Amino acid sequence: MLNVTIDGKKLEAKDGETILQVCQANHVRIPTLCFHKDLTPFGACRLCVVEVKTDGKWQLASSCDTLVRNKMEVRTNTDRVKESRKLAAELLCYKYPSTKAVRDMAESLGVEVPEGKADGSDCILCGLCTRTCHEIVGVDALKFLDRGLGRSVSEPRIEYIADACIGCGSCAYVCPTGFVKMEASGDRRVIWDKSFKMTACDKCGRYFAPEEQLKWISRKTGVPMSKLTVCTSCR
Ligand code: SF4
Ligand code: FES
Repeated sequence: MLNVTIDGKKLEAKDGETILQVCQANHVRIPTLCFHKDLTPFGACRLCVVEVKTDGKWQLASSCDTLVRNKMEVRTNTDRVKESRKLAAELLCYKYPSTKAVRDMAESLGVEVPEGKADGSDCILCGLCTRTCHEIVGVDALKFLDRGLGRSVSEPRIEYIADACIGCGSCAYVCPTGFVKMEASGDRRVIWDKSFKMTACDKCGRYFAPEEQLKWISRKTGVPMSKLTVCTSCR
């Protein structure tokens, strides 16, 4: 066990935990937009910033990807922390002024959100979809283009690899802004403009998964397709 002090309170933490995990376990509220508990931290939004005492000096650090150390001291609610989060939210708001998730977050952090409609659904490059596709689904149908070292001058964006996509819809569920659209109509599901044929449950008749997803599960697990004909509720 590690001993850490957060906002003057002495707390225990496990080795390998991040500051954000310790805060969440102890009901210390930290804003996040690019974090998901089941995914590797990405450090994209900078909203989760806190102050950490290092060599006697308080320094800003993103809490989602900073591991706790024994005797670490953390402050989550100072003026400097609030200003830094506000600045991060202002930048997001400047880039994506009509995206509701961004506006809501900015407002909650005290940013004066410009007048205008909140009917946009921009991609804020949070990386939740790419990480979900890679780490949870294991398919890699989504990739960042033009991000990181050696990138070109164009804006980063998400590349959709249609041939790899199995239509599971995980990226649409996890996307915080609604940029990833998934529509269902009859026996079809359309996601990222690719249309998938859905399979109906043998028992209840409900369309429960794209054929491509079931074939992929069958290939991965060795379970024959004939055993994948019933939805989870009817199993
Ligand atoms: S598509 Fe959605 S989940 Fe993916 S990076 Fe953009 S905002 Fe994040
Ligand atoms: S939640 Fe930590 S940088 Fe986005």
